[in-house]
Amino acid sequence: MSPFAGRRIVLAVSGGIAAYKAVEVCRRLVDAGAHVVPVLTEAARRFVGEITFSALASERARLSLFEDDDPIPHVTLGRQADLILVCPATARVIGSYAAGLSEDLLGATLIATRAPVVVCPAMHTEMWEHPAVQDNVRLLDERGVTVVAPEEGRLAGGDVGAGRLAAPESILAAAAEALAAGAQASTRDMVGLRVLVTAGGTREPIDPVRFVGNRSSGKQGYAVAIEAAARGAKVTLVATVRRPLPESIELVLVETAEEMRAATVDRLPADVVVMAAAVADYRPTAPALDKIKKTGEARTISLEPTPDILAELGCGGEVGTLVGFAAETSDVLANAEAKLRAKGADLIVVNDVSAPSAGFDHDTNEVVLLAATGDRTTVPLTSKRDVARAVLDHVATHRAAH
Ligand code: C5P
Repeated sequence: MSPFAGRRIVLAVSGGIAAYKAVEVCRRLVDAGAHVVPVLTEAARRFVGEITFSALASERARLSLFEDDDPIPHVTLGRQADLILVCPATARVIGSYAAGLSEDLLGATLIATRAPVVVCPAMHTEMWEHPAVQDNVRLLDERGVTVVAPEEGRLAGGDVGAGRLAAPESILAAAAEALAAGAQASTRDMVGLRVLVTAGGTREPIDPVRFVGNRSSGKQGYAVAIEAAARGAKVTLVATVRRPLPESIELVLVETAEEMRAATVDRLPADVVVMAAAVADYRPTAPALDKIKKTGEARTISLEPTPDILAELGCGGEVGTLVGFAAETSDVLANAEAKLRAKGADLIVVNDVSAPSAGFDHDTNEVVLLAATGDRTTVPLTSKRDVARAVLDHVATHRAAH
């Protein structure tokens, strides 16, 4: 069956030359069985007439917050939508959405919805590459918005470069994926559960200004926390880094392994604990109280083991389902199997951090889920949010079996 059959999609069209391509996207969505409601900005209407969209879509095109009987059209559109597809998205629309501004019907609908949103930027290369636009796009991406990157090619005015609207096939594929993910998230299968997640790399002081650290960005742990909250869990995130987070998640910022241990153990019992943090295995034995001076001599820093939080939770009996991560660079699966047993976890998420586009600081990841039951699931290269979904699907299976 078509992924679009019976799904309600708000097609939000903003004012760029690529607006004419939204007509084709509209037609294909309707052909695939979607119920499409077009929302046009004033500028979009300078490029394509509203009649074109009204004729091809499932309902007439909407143009303004104040045009009809519904006093709150943005809330109605936002609530009823299964997906909002912004195609094309101009720099202005991307900026207003990132800033939470509701300048017109399209902007207000984006802020008023809880449906998944797919944004398809299209603009001239200089605008696309401007740091302000790139920052806004990154912010939207971090908030879980799907951004369909523009392609290189012919632009308005005969120019050639990056910024051309993605091909309709790519846009439809992203829309189908976002719809499927939205349907999963809306299962809210974690309502009533207490979930504890750790994220980021710990910092172990050498002296007041230096530390032993690692390359973890915290992105995967944040994605797990956000996904668990979207499924209805009450989430506490113990993290070493600050990133955008929904209000409903309790954030506890820590720095060292010892602080992470205390914050985590303090919040037990929990139904689910996901230890996504890259906790240092060793810390300087005796951090200096004053900054260590340069002497020109070689120096040795003595290290001692940190508390292994995962192993401690694994034998404590206060956690329903315990998930650990294993960042490996060699003998990936064998090492992870050993870790699963040694730490008493129910699931280990294994990632080969030496693989391209996976692991530290990337927005994508590629993992294998090793369950204590012997189950093994490969999650091919995908977004960290998708990896979070796969992990929590496994958690649900584990809970159902116990
Ligand atoms: O042993 P290793 O550090 O590779 O194990 C990784 C897993 O163990 C991760 O889930 C990490 O959060 C957790 N861990 C821990 N305490 C440590 C070291 C790692 O909880 N001291």
